[in-house]
Amino acid sequence: MRINKKNLKWWQKTIVYEAYPSSFQDTDGDGIGNLKGITMHLDYLKSFGVGAIWLTPVYASPMKDNGYDISDYYAINPTYGSMEDMEELIAEAKKRGIRIVMDMVFNHTSDKNAWFTESASSRDNAKADWYIWRDAKEDGSAPNNWGGIFGGSVWTWCETRQQYYLHTFGDFQPDLNWENPEVRRALYDVANFWLDKGVGGFRLDAVTYIKKPKELADGPVNPFMGYASVHDMTANTEGILDFLHEFRSMAVEGHDIFAVGEANGVSSDELDKWVGEKGVFDMLFEFSHVNVQFDGPQNWCQTRPWKLTDLKKAFFDSQKATENTGWYPIFLENHDQPRSVNHFLPADAENQAAAKALGMLATTLRGTPFIYQGEELGMTNVQRQSIEDYDDVLSINQYEIALNKGFTKEEALACVMEYSRDNARTPMQWDASENAGFSAGRPWLGVNPNFKTVNAALQENDESSVLNWYRSLYRLREEYSLLIDGDFGELFSDSEEIFAYTRENDNQKAIILINFTGKNVSYDAQQVFDAQPALFSGKSCVAGSLEPYQAVCYIKDKG
Ligand code: GLC
Repeated sequence: MRINKKNLKWWQKTIVYEAYPSSFQDTDGDGIGNLKGITMHLDYLKSFGVGAIWLTPVYASPMKDNGYDISDYYAINPTYGSMEDMEELIAEAKKRGIRIVMDMVFNHTSDKNAWFTESASSRDNAKADWYIWRDAKEDGSAPNNWGGIFGGSVWTWCETRQQYYLHTFGDFQPDLNWENPEVRRALYDVANFWLDKGVGGFRLDAVTYIKKPKELADGPVNPFMGYASVHDMTANTEGILDFLHEFRSMAVEGHDIFAVGEANGVSSDELDKWVGEKGVFDMLFEFSHVNVQFDGPQNWCQTRPWKLTDLKKAFFDSQKATENTGWYPIFLENHDQPRSVNHFLPADAENQAAAKALGMLATTLRGTPFIYQGEELGMTNVQRQSIEDYDDVLSINQYEIALNKGFTKEEALACVMEYSRDNARTPMQWDASENAGFSAGRPWLGVNPNFKTVNAALQENDESSVLNWYRSLYRLREEYSLLIDGDFGELFSDSEEIFAYTRENDNQKAIILINFTGKNVSYDAQQVFDAQPALFSGKSCVAGSLEPYQAVCYIKDKG
């Protein structure tokens, strides 16, 4: 599909903000953020152009994976508030032109979900086939050698049924059996319930795993894991798109919403089947740029040095892949990733100029920016002294795996610390008061000690802050439509210092230059001949050179 530039949809023109409710704002002092806390800050979000808020799961949940273990899709987690609070959030957001996007965790539920308790109660109950049950092998061992994304076997034994159930993630997250039409219908009903509440879109969690191959056969063992990776064995199994077309027709088509899939395992040559007119989603999150330092999804403690050209290649490939097909969701951070300043500019993560450089990238590539909470302040990773300070189930499991592999405690902690999902999950830093203004009580996860210098209140009044830079970037997008509808072009592809590209429509051309180093760099000034700097960070803007981490957007009219 050729994108219709004149008639882009609302979600192609706006900025999406990902809110992690537990850590956004607590209004009742229990140390955990809540829905009222999000409603309270809607004007703040509006101030840098947010038109949709993706809420990570807010449903009833035992919270073993922070809501990605849902016990009731039709109820709000009481620590987040009530259904009335949710309705109020949707209504108050709507008044400001902001839509609420729900996270649909449809690969699995919590083991405390009534669907699972019933399914687990016997081999012949009404929901007996709603999950993936298999007999043990003759010797009593698990049905196959697959290992899960959170470590360990994907199989857990159930005494009552005398069978194993499959879980791609934790043992508390049993996978639903999508082959069963009743299961699919139940999930579409959930989506429609939320559509009736007025939500503006869906993010489909872990969606490439919903279809399993017919034979759940053993696979090649990944020596580090000691298992065959469930990702390798199940991601993007043939036939998955039939399910997703059904989902689209039952829960997306006919509504003015967008659907974005978390699509680990979809390669760019398959993209046209997944997105765009013939596809099943409007956008797909793919991870090549955030995995630039890993050899594969399971090699989390074996990083490799990476160069700027590697990162640029990942982005440029995605830009090319979505040139004519679908639409790109630009993200540098999310609740599963380290903070982008640490990830991509580790030498100067605390430097506000570094956060601004990444802000330019996040808002001027071609696609819809997805900004993760705190990214607009330049929030950073957190250093912890011991594994006891971690909440994330994945980090805790990874630590254990590293110890079992012979790493020392210090080494294991170092592995976990750099990429732990908790880095992104520390409470929002609103001001310099106790607990960063996040909560009057003890936060569920310790605040990053740098909150006295990195916080929204301080940045509000500082013209040159990261927050005000995001506001400028938003205005830039509003003023120059080519930053939304313009084509993308590579520039200086071989440079290990400058991340540069162009955007171009019928009337104008933009040249975006971002210095990814902490030193002054120069480039061929001819590139910006005739153009005017529409926005730049740093002290001054001189054609042909860039200050450390300087980001510039030049614009020129076409003759
Ligand atoms: C997705 C979520 C992650 C969660 C996992 C299991 O990858 O982003 O946070 O742990 O799915 O639902």
